[in-house]
Amino acid sequence: MNHVGVIGAGVMGCGVAQNLAQVGYSVTLVDLTETILEQAREEIRNNLRFYAYYTKSENHADPEAILSRIVFTTEYQQLATAEAVIENAPEKWAVKESVYRSLDAICSPDCIFLVNTSCISITKIATLTSRPERVIGTHFMNPVPLKDTIESIRGYHTSDTTIAATKELLSRMGKECVLVNDLPGFVSNRLSHLFMNEAALVVQDQVATPEEVDTIFKQCFGHKMGPLETADLIGLDTVVDSLKILYECYQDPKFRCCPMLQKMVDAGLLGRKSGRGFYTYQ
Ligand code: NAI
Repeated sequence: MNHVGVIGAGVMGCGVAQNLAQVGYSVTLVDLTETILEQAREEIRNNLRFYAYYTKSENHADPEAILSRIVFTTEYQQLATAEAVIENAPEKWAVKESVYRSLDAICSPDCIFLVNTSCISITKIATLTSRPERVIGTHFMNPVPLKDTIESIRGYHTSDTTIAATKELLSRMGKECVLVNDLPGFVSNRLSHLFMNEAALVVQDQVATPEEVDTIFKQCFGHKMGPLETADLIGLDTVVDSLKILYECYQDPKFRCCPMLQKMVDAGLLGRKSGRGFYTYQ
């Protein structure tokens, strides 16, 4: 496999495209506008410089050489020759639906679709295509180039061949995967969104400040990050969208979105990506 398509040049798509290019894949990164793609190019350039520093690698490749392996485009047609597509569109059913209908029409019948979703059922996404056996969940962790394990999800129809091809691709990206079965939220987000939502409710109820909540998680529980720092890193809009999907799928009030969290999103406080969420970023 040499040519991999990436849909969405947001938080996750940039990380996925960067990681693929770093290990030598030809990448086609698709988003809606040239402006978004230009921002993505800058984001990846900055991250490549940071990555070289962070990993303290002495023989890191030139960021411009890595960037040159990525084609930034608004045209889905350029995915016609891709052997795999990793989709990172927003966590909204209507958006994913239109993306998969386009991909299925344009991509070769052998192309496999890797769904990077927080919560949406892989089996349900596969119904949007004529190749359900070639659709698999790959829930990457953020920031993608720095995380070496992902949660992979077997949809009802996902074939063993697709699982093997996915593992090979992930292995070249330097990642191991834990393969789980398909129900909304899988393992990681079914659990983590309860933590993040309840942490927001604790702040809403004025039991503690965000700093206090996160300090308890880090210093008492030994987590690397607290739930509200994590929510800011993911993007509060994505967290709210995910909670809505979990609530709708399970019909269980435990997933009811914290009203203050929704209000923050309505006010444009999306976390790191907007410069302000539970914390403020430069
Ligand atoms: P984001 O909002 O940062 O980026 C989404 C990108 O998709 C935007 O640049 C948007 O312009 C683009 N887009 C929208 N419609 C499109 C279309 N029709 N064709 C091509 N591009 C389109 O979202 P983010 O955070 O990157 O999330 C993407 C997916 O990954 C979501 O399903 C999310 O649940 C999942 N995810 C997010 C994680 C996180 O930490 N943010 C972690 C793991 C999975």
